[in-house]
Amino acid sequence: MTRHPAGGRFISFEGIDGSGKSTQARRLAETLRTDGADVVLTREPGGSPGAEEIRRLLVEGDPERWSAETEILLFTAARRDHWERTIAPALGRGAIVITDRFADSTRVYQGTTRGDLVAVVDRLHALMIPRQPDLTLVIDADPAAALIRARARSGSELRFEGFGADFQARLRAGFLALADTAPARVRIIDGSGSEAEVAGRVHAAVIQADR
Ligand code: ADP
Ligand code: TYD
Repeated sequence: MTRHPAGGRFISFEGIDGSGKSTQARRLAETLRTDGADVVLTREPGGSPGAEEIRRLLVEGDPERWSAETEILLFTAARRDHWERTIAPALGRGAIVITDRFADSTRVYQGTTRGDLVAVVDRLHALMIPRQPDLTLVIDADPAAALIRARARSGSELRFEGFGADFQARLRAGFLALADTAPARVRIIDGSGSEAEVAGRVHAAVIQADR
């Protein structure tokens, strides 16, 4: 894994809703903590008090509530606060930061599904967020199975799930394509099988990237 000169390691988990990435982010954090590492586990949208407030605007309500362009601005605003308050201080003290989603989610969800806005996402990122993750693990899962898992979770955060199965299939293709655009950083992890089996693949990818 590329190590940044200014301290810790920065790992992101990505994938479609219900792919199992939160489960895997949590398991990796536990494994690395057991090994004695200082680990900060965080998530997007959210990860700081201000960004969690913006999260509610984004994940609740009518699927048509915001345009893709407005979403890009809101997600980037949340990410900037998350970066300033949570990620940068943790990396600065040398911690491993594991985030459940980061800028690749904006590239795929807002950048590729409602017109081609990837260049807009990348320009805003370059202006506002000083760093990419050192390693990005995309948990690849069957869209139909993942949607059933995501909808089985109770709660009110269903705005993106409300876009439906076809949308999930387009998202999966977008996440797989990331490995071609950023091969040094992005690893695709087979998300099938038990949680423990997937965790084994994740751990192997982290160790390999560290060599
Ligand atoms: P995501 O963060 O990608 O939306 P989660 O990690 O929250 O996904 O998982 C969604 C649901 O699927 C949860 O109820 C979780 O317990 C379950 N789950 C996660 N990984 C697996 C797995 N490998 N096999 C079966 N169920 C899983
Ligand atoms: P998340 O809580 O990770 O949902 P899940 O656990 O179901 O995967 O994220 C909430 C929703 O926000 C999710 O549907 C993906 C979406 N999202 C974007 O559209 N763009 C982004 O930049 C981010 C970070 C999330």
